[in-house]
Parts: sequence; structure tokens; C-alpha cells
Amino acid sequence: MNNLKNLRGTVDLLPDQLIKWQNVEKIILEQLSRASIKEIRTPILEMTELFIRGIGEGTDVVSKEMYTFLDRGERSCTLRPEGTASVARAIIQKGMSSNPLQKLWYMGPMFRYERPQAGRQRQFHQLGVEFIGYESVRSDVEIIALAWDILEKLGLKKLNLEINSLGDLNDRLNFQKSFLKWLQINKDFLDLDSQNRIDKNPLRILDTKNSQTKKILESSPKLHDFLSKKSLERYLELKNQLESLKIPFIENFNLVRGLDYYTHTAFEITSGALGSQATVCGGGRYDNLIKQMGGKDTPAIGFAIGLERLILLAGKELDVERRTDIYIVNQGLLAEPFAINLSRKLRNFDLLVELDLSGASFSKQLKKANKLNSKSIVVIGDQEAANKEFVIRLFDKKNSVNNEEVIPFDSDIKLERWLNSNLILK
Ligand code: HAM
Repeated sequence: MNNLKNLRGTVDLLPDQLIKWQNVEKIILEQLSRASIKEIRTPILEMTELFIRGIGEGTDVVSKEMYTFLDRGERSCTLRPEGTASVARAIIQKGMSSNPLQKLWYMGPMFRYERPQAGRQRQFHQLGVEFIGYESVRSDVEIIALAWDILEKLGLKKLNLEINSLGDLNDRLNFQKSFLKWLQINKDFLDLDSQNRIDKNPLRILDTKNSQTKKILESSPKLHDFLSKKSLERYLELKNQLESLKIPFIENFNLVRGLDYYTHTAFEITSGALGSQATVCGGGRYDNLIKQMGGKDTPAIGFAIGLERLILLAGKELDVERRTDIYIVNQGLLAEPFAINLSRKLRNFDLLVELDLSGASFSKQLKKANKLNSKSIVVIGDQEAANKEFVIRLFDKKNSVNNEEVIPFDSDIKLERWLNSNLILK
């Protein structure tokens, strides 16, 4: 047993850490529901082919990072590295005829075999949002605004939104021809990683982190110069609408994103407070993906937020747990069944009730209630149980008793009145 450990790049999230996770998830879910976005859950395990066709063979994610294995039926399976391809597959499979426009979200674990470091894991979590069937610039704007608002609602500061347009397939092909020519001429000046990308995924060279390659790229052809008039107009309209919403952005013509399916709008939100893994949110438009995977011609746009990075950035105020309303101190053969019964009754009032199961002395149980900073306590000993009543005490801010009352077990009215008048019930 001693050698059993979790795998590198995976983590156990313990109750103390999960307070923040749950608070963050609650705020996210509220925001999504206010925007009338519906949840979709797709399997964590998919056919490998889905990601090869969906994300692209030349991408780092597919060529180096997937957890792929043969199952017992010799089928190649992959733990999902992201959610967009699965959503597209589900949409194609179920058919969209009844509802051609869908706003969807998902949240859950994703898997990429990357080198673990702060904010980068092999099993990590994403919140993803996908708008399926939406073509207008307004849908790009709503998607970006939604991501921005979620991050702001969580109190994140120092955020930068970077945007770019990758044009349509034609624009990209035209650019690629000219860029490949330039790459052949300048190959020897590029870092090794970028050289290796020339045949596999030349566009990705544009967002290299290597400073020397970056410098050389300054003289390369620019994708932006190859955008058709229509693509440029679309991009201009996006900028205008973002400006009118007062969402600040920076244009980054080298932003190409790591997955092959993007067209037109691409965007990322980074935080200066994150160090090297600075991207909290990445997304963009993928108008060809659904058709290319065998579905109808369906425009779409979406984003995903990395939850681990979000947790690193979210403030301490989200570390606060709901306060215990009532702690039930109980001891004795007669008292214990009463206590369990009372805990159920009190929980029906939507109260946070902790039932002490330790069997320890009253003073120890009281200390625990104190440590938890419970708003009030109930005390039941065999004496109270024999009298069919219990004592309930409210504490003030300094943890001294503010109000105390003896309530008969069968008097729900008296109990409710006490809870109400002592402001325990909301
Ligand atoms: P992505 O940029 O690959 O996009 O990932 C989105 C976010 O997931 C990143 O910005 C980052 O916060 C988080 N993330 C990625 N890899 C890791 C990791 N190894 N550890 C921790 N966090 C990580 C997508 O996945 C697209 N499906 C987004 C999208 C949706 N585009 C359109 N719709």
C-alpha cells in the first residue's frame, strides 16, 4: 500500500480546498443560468478518431498529449483533452433539426500529457461554453462578454483580452502558401521546435515563445494582410461592438490558438498574476468543424476556462464556508436517537445542522461547536430526552450565550417561532 500514489499531474482535491471550488462553481453556474445557457454532458472517454479529425493531427494536443489506449475490444479510445469536439459529435449524432440554435455549457475533467507545473496539470478541469448554429458577430460578442463577465464576477483583476481574426479557410490557405515560402527561406534562423512545425502545423509557429524566432517573425508575411474584405469587415465589426460594450481588448495578430478548428475570431484572456501559464480562457469561432466531422454546415463559437487557473486567481473571500447554523451536542442512550431525529427536522428548514457523532463529553462537543463558530447549539442529554425536550442556545458575535430556550420535541410551532425570532432562518 505504501507505494500507492496519485499519478503525476493529477491531484486530490480535499474538503478544505473544495470550499473555494464550490463557491467558484456556484457563481459560474448562476451566471450561465442567467444567460439561459443549457448544460450538456458528454462522455469523458471517446473514440480516438474524434480528436484526430476534430482537433487536427498536427496539433500538439493530438500528436503528443493524448491519453490513448486500446480497450478490451481493441478499439482505440482517448480520454478527452478538450470538450468542443465531443459537443460537435453529440450535436451531429442527435441531429439539430428540432433546435438549430443551441447555447450549451459543460464542466469537467480533461486530460493532456503535458509537463506539470503551477497551473498546468495532466488531469485538469474546464468550463466550456459553445454556441452552436450562431453566425453573427453579435454571437462572438456575447461569447466574449460572457467569459469576461464570469471572470469579473469572480473578482479577477488584471485581465487582458487578446483578439485576432484567422479569416476563413481560403484566407488561411492563401496566407499559408506565402508563409511556407518564407519559412523555407528562413528555416535555419528558427528554433528547433518551430523548424519541426513547418511540415506539421506551420501556423503554430506564429505564437512561439522563443524570443529569437519572435524577432525573425517580425519580417514574415502577416495572416492579417491575407484576410478577405468580408473577413476584415467582420473583424472590424467585432472590434466596434466590443468597444461599444467597453470591454477592453488588445489585438494580437500572432494569436492562432493550438487547435486546428478555428476560423475568424480567436481570443484569449490572460492574467498578469499567473506567471508562465497565464491563459485563463481561450476560445474562438469554428464554422467548419461540424461539417468537416460529417454534420450539416453549422457555424459555431465557444470558449473554455481552465478551472485550476481560475482557482489560483480567485480571491480569499471565496474560501469562506457557509457557517453552521446549529450544532447538536448530544450524549446518552436516550438522547442520541432524539438528536438524529431533530437534525433531520432542522435540516428541513434549510439550516446547516451538524450532528455530533463523537460520543465525547459535553464539554468536548461544546468546544467543537465553538471552534466551528456555530450560530447556535442544541443540547440533548438523557435528562432532556426523558423530559421530551431540548435546550437551544443562540450565541452572540463574541460566542457568549445570547438567548436560551427549552423547547418540547413535539412543538414544531415553538421551534419555528424561536428560529424565526432569532434570525436563524433567512
Ligand atoms: P484551450 O486553449 O486548449 O482551448 O484550453 C482552454 C483553457 O484550458 C486554457 O486557457 C487553460 O486555462 C486550460 N488548460 C488547458 N490545458 C491545461 C492544463 N494542462 N492544465 C490546466 N489548465 C489547462 C480549448 O480547450 C478549446 N476547446 C476551447 C474552445 C471551446 N474553443 C471553442 N470552444
